[in-house]
Amino acid sequence: MSPRHLTSINDLRLEEIESVFSLAEKYLRELVDPNLPYRIARSTNVCGGSVMATLFYEPSTRTRLSFESAMLRLGGQVISSADPAASSAAKGESLADTIRMASAYADILVLRHPREGAAQFAAEYASVPLINAGDGAHEHPTQTLTDLFTILRERGTLTDLTVALLGDLRGGRTAHSLAYALARYGARIALMPAPGLELPEYVAARLREAFGYEYLKPNELRSDDGMAGMFVPNGTANDPVGAVDVLYVTRFQKERAADAVTEYPTVTARFLAADRFRNTLVLHPLPRVDELDAKFDQDERAGYFRQASYGVPVRMALITMLLKGDNKNMVRGCHSHGLCTDVTCGNANCISRDARETAAAPKLHPLLSDPSRLRCWYCDHEISLA
Ligand code: NCD
Repeated sequence: MSPRHLTSINDLRLEEIESVFSLAEKYLRELVDPNLPYRIARSTNVCGGSVMATLFYEPSTRTRLSFESAMLRLGGQVISSADPAASSAAKGESLADTIRMASAYADILVLRHPREGAAQFAAEYASVPLINAGDGAHEHPTQTLTDLFTILRERGTLTDLTVALLGDLRGGRTAHSLAYALARYGARIALMPAPGLELPEYVAARLREAFGYEYLKPNELRSDDGMAGMFVPNGTANDPVGAVDVLYVTRFQKERAADAVTEYPTVTARFLAADRFRNTLVLHPLPRVDELDAKFDQDERAGYFRQASYGVPVRMALITMLLKGDNKNMVRGCHSHGLCTDVTCGNANCISRDARETAAAPKLHPLLSDPSRLRCWYCDHEISLA
């Protein structure tokens, strides 16, 4: 049987997300630091004897360390390739070959890669579960699990929320995965992008078509909303919008941007003094640069360091599920039936356009709703044949 992977947040059914959260709660209950209610301080042996390989082709602090800490807290072992310059990638090895081989050395793989779709591509070569720890500007599903878990813990619910996404919504993969997940929980998703860094059209199209959302332009919002635009579930455009429950701040992803930005929002105590932010939980996947003022850290609305701590119990729960759970409900397999392999993906940073990946033929599938549009199997970007 093929192993279960996590390449997109959409690979998980809501019941599965919720079982990850109940297991994360259980780990927190049993292993928490008595002085810090969000910090795991002790270990179990649930994954004793198992080995995790972390393969990071891009910088990371939190994601890699929290994955490794999670595996060690579960009694497992970790091997790591954290510096592309020191791995065989520097000699020209393809990702496909590295993944095949790493599958022989470890029981679970965690991959971060600068190309969109790299995780979905790598999963085709992995004979053990593979987790996407960020693929270019595409997705970052385990950050989303951490974000949702933080919201659930701190607000007590994942339903009926208004969440504002602020900053680099174009290059910020965490915002894409989070938007999909929030849509599945029926949240109102307010957008506060920096100019030029708006949510990509393929993400917006998915919110509209797969999740039944409509986009309200600024002039369709009530004037006191103070938002640049908002995605709401179809048919709820006239429902009253209250205060913002969660403000999700992101940094400018300069490593993925062709140009510098001239105008980037900064979140300060003054910005957060507006009435609609009075009870807002402020989150940030971190690292922050200067878009979120450190003077705000002592404010009780600042949830981002607790959010980073929750990365450990959430990843412990996910690893347990992938290593010990059953695989029979795999959502997205590696089958390529019905895919077009003779049309090149339009995204120049898609893994299928990486010259090194000679095995990465294009794979696009026609959308059921509009067969003249093709979506890339790896990176989800769309092209239109019309
Ligand atoms: C994020 C990432 O790598 O996408 N960081 C993280 O995983 N916590 C956000 C970022 O780098 O800005």
